[in-house]
Formats: sequence, C-alpha cells, structure tokens
Amino acid sequence: MKKLRFGILSTANIGRKDWKAIFHSGNSIVTAVASRDLGRSRKFIQECQAETPFENPPEAFGSYDGLLASKNVDAIYIPLPTGLRKEWVVRAAESAKHVLCEKPCAASAAGLEEMISACRKNHVQFMDGVMFMHNRRLDQVCAVLNDGTSVGQVKRITSQFSFACSEEFFRADIRVDDALEPHGCLGDLGWYCIRFALWTVNWQMPRRVEGRILSRAGKKPPGVPVEFSAELFFDGGVSSGFYCSFLTAFRQWADISGAKGYLRVPDFVGPVVGNETAFEVNNRSVPSDHSADRPSTAQETNMIRNFANQVFSGKLNEEWPMWALKTQQVQDACFQSALADSESCL
Ligand SMILES: NC(=O)c1ccc[n+]([C@@H]2O[C@H](COP(=O)([O-])OP(=O)(O)OC[C@H]3O[C@@H](n4cnc5c(N)ncnc54)[C@H](OP(=O)(O)O)[C@@H]3O)[C@@H](O)[C@H]2O)c1
Repeated sequence: MKKLRFGILSTANIGRKDWKAIFHSGNSIVTAVASRDLGRSRKFIQECQAETPFENPPEAFGSYDGLLASKNVDAIYIPLPTGLRKEWVVRAAESAKHVLCEKPCAASAAGLEEMISACRKNHVQFMDGVMFMHNRRLDQVCAVLNDGTSVGQVKRITSQFSFACSEEFFRADIRVDDALEPHGCLGDLGWYCIRFALWTVNWQMPRRVEGRILSRAGKKPPGVPVEFSAELFFDGGVSSGFYCSFLTAFRQWADISGAKGYLRVPDFVGPVVGNETAFEVNNRSVPSDHSADRPSTAQETNMIRNFANQVFSGKLNEEWPMWALKTQQVQDACFQSALADSESCL
C-alpha cells in the first residue's frame, strides 16, 4: 500500500505524539526529521524509534532546508513556534510538499493567507493540526444538535481550556515568548475554543467580539496573555464565551445550550483515555464507543489518515484552510479587542 512520507520540521515535543499517530495511521510513515542541530534530530529519532519503530529509521537532518530538499518526503509536519512558521510553510509549499501546520497557524490572518495561498499556488494541501476535528465524536454531537429536540435552536456556546503551568514554564517555554508565540494562551488554548464555537455554528463568522486579557506574563514586559476571556456575538441571537489560561487548573470542557436542552463535552480537546467519543445530553450520558480508544482510531491518528487520504485523492480540500483562516481571524479580532480594551467589529 502506498504511504504518505512525512518529514517533521524540528524536534518539538508535540512531534512525538504525531510520530505515533503517523505510525498507527496505516497510510503514512516518517522518513525524515530535521533540527537546527543534527545531534538533536538524531536523538529525537532514536527515542521515537525505541517506542514506535518504523521499519526503516527516518533520516536525520541538521537543517530545515536539507529536509525540504529531500526527495523522500511528500508532506511536512510543521510544529515550529508560531512566530517562525510562515517562512517554513511557504518554503515547504514552494518545494511541492503538502503541509500539516500546527496551531495557532500564524502570527496574523494576513500571514496565514500568504501561507494558504502559497499552498494553493503550488497545488499542495494545507491543514492545521487540530486533532479534535478528526474525532468521530463530532459526528455524534452533530447528529444530536440536528435532531431538533434534544438541544433545539442553539443559543449559547461556552468553553474553557486551561492548565496551571510551572515556574519553569514561565521562565523557559516558547508559549511565553512574544516573538515565538505572540498570542500566549489565546493562541495555544483559545484557538480550540474558537474552533469549537465556529464548528457549532457551521462556520458562520461572529459579527463582533470582545476580548479581555485577564493576566499577562512572559520573558519580557508586558508579556503575552496567560489568562484570556472573550465573547463572540453571532447573528440570530447566538453567543459564545470562552476562557483560557496558563494559571488555572486543567479543564477542557465545552457546553452547547439551546432553547430545549444542552449538550456537554467534558474533554473536547484531548479526550481522556476511555472517554474518546463520550458526551452528555440533558443529564444523560452518551457512552464512549470503545473501538475509538485504540491508537489506530484515536483522533490524532484519524487526523493523519484523513490528511494522507486527501493527498492520495489528488484533490485539494478547500474546507481545511477555510477552518484555519476563520479561526485565525476570530482569534486576531479577540486579541485586537483586548489590546484596544474595547469590542472589535468583523
Ligand atoms: N495540536 C496539538 O495538539 C498541539 C499540542 C501541543 C503544542 N502544539 C503547538 O505546537 C507548537 C510547538 O509546541 P511544543 O510545545 O511542541 O514546542 P517545543 O517543544 O518548544 O518545540 C519547538 C521546536 O521548534 C524549534 N525551534 C526553531 N527555532 C526555535 C527558537 N528560536 N526557539 C525555540 N524553538 C525553536 C526547536 O526544534 P529544533 O531545536 O530541533 O530545531 C524546538 O524543538 C506550538 O505552537 C503549540 O501551540 C499543538
């Protein structure tokens, strides 16, 4: 069976999870890993191979350029810090490689438009790395929302994604460096909350948003947002609120309330093992379909499999870039509103 050959650009921590997802996808393999330091890419490959070994160990590169030039790579997975991503997405596209781009995709919507248009121009696929979009739970949630009686007309979407970070995180992590991750927790965590709201309203854009930076911290003043809240106002009297934070204990819930009832997902970003497709409707638990617990059907594995199948189809999926761009536009508007300490119209 033909397999999509992935190159991983950098030795980012999240790359270890995607390595496993590629391994379990059945239709993809990792053929190359690049780091700014050859020793680091070799070590990354050695450690990942020790846990989930590909038949042929991927080639290690000591520069990102070297990997982009490789003839043994069809697609690049790019988990570089957000502030550095645009250049490498554009260069990957110009090297005729498909792009799986980590979220938050770019430092601005204008930057993301350049990235997407480079992919379109070079006939390569662009997709962001939001794993929950590939969880089969969304199909079940969608069926409940559309049944007309359980939730009825959607009125309110709320979510929270937070975790309390260590002192070391606030000293050294890329997420508190404004050159690398300019939106702090809004980009790292709020991206998911915005995505869930947009998915729920079928990609309708809010008319206006209000964002608030509740706390800042970082390597240099004034720091990046480390606690953020926002309100999104849609046509038809639908609203959405979210809260994301690096200061508050781990939570990752989403709630959709309608005229007739509610639906609640306790772990919408990264399902707790054993709970992959479970959620709650009006005090009734919809149990997990346990076939989804296996690595081969985990949401991150589905993401890789869907990406590779799309590439093999020979057609570009235009919805995936649109999901990313809309999420980025709403994220930017929330950020601008917070900076201006006012509401921001779209
Ligand atoms: N989709 C998801 O579920 C998910 C989960 C976690 C994180 N993410 C996103 O993925 C991105 C990476 O997160 P992470 O925690 O994996 O990052 P990380 O471990 O800090 O890795 C970032 C990598 O970028 C490379 N890099 C290049 N220039 C750099 C610079 N100037 N400073 C620091 N690193 C530089 C480094 O690789 P080399 O040294 O090897 O070149 C480094 O290993 C973030 O934007 C984050 O929001 C997504």
